Amino acid sequence: MKLLIDDAHLDEIKKLCDLYPVAGVTTNPTILSKIGGNPFDTLKAIRGFIGEEAELHVQAVSRRAEDIAAEAKHIVNILGANTYVKIPAVPEGFKAMKILVDTSEILITATAIYTPMQAYIAGLCGASYAAPYVNRIDNMGFDGIRVAQEIQKIFNANRMETEVIAASFKNSQQVLELCKCGIGAATVSPEILSALVKNSAIDDAVDKFIADFEGFAGVGKTMCDFR
Ligand code: E4P
Repeated sequence: MKLLIDDAHLDEIKKLCDLYPVAGVTTNPTILSKIGGNPFDTLKAIRGFIGEEAELHVQAVSRRAEDIAAEAKHIVNILGANTYVKIPAVPEGFKAMKILVDTSEILITATAIYTPMQAYIAGLCGASYAAPYVNRIDNMGFDGIRVAQEIQKIFNANRMETEVIAASFKNSQQVLELCKCGIGAATVSPEILSALVKNSAIDDAVDKFIADFEGFAGVGKTMCDFR
């Protein structure tokens, strides 16, 4: 399961990419609204930092299929290779996906997915990823983890190349549950990415090892001080 950062704050992205094996960055209009200004200033800065090998997911906001397709081409023209255009999995969105798959090489992430059938149709349209909203599904009284797992099963059973990129998480346990079943990718907020490995027992164990070493070798000493 790949891990991506669902955020647009460059300082957070830099910090997390430095520490963790991050495959890319996902954004949506709400995330971009937290930065404000020209969205391409934000997105170009992210692209400049993560490089062209990493994934950058950017949402189109037009409502009509032809407009979504034009917006998708505009986004990719500016942000370059490995930019995935997020298109809502609704009827006009499906039409836009078909137009783009027929007329371009643009990579598509089907988004705003609440049901397995949205993901299946998006897969048939040629989307590279389908993004179920785990926590939002939970909040509606359904089981977001189960929906994401069902989508993965549908893709496997139908030998589709579309991958699940699970989104909208409230806690690290939800991410763990999807990791266990080998989902394609998860995009998580900076807080949840840090929480995946946050545990005071881990810190205590590391502190104790260092204290024991310094106890006989001297404060600040490491293995580099010996040969
Ligand atoms: C991803 O495609 C979504 O834009 C995002 O993860 C939604 O997350 P939220 O439910 O926390 O807003």
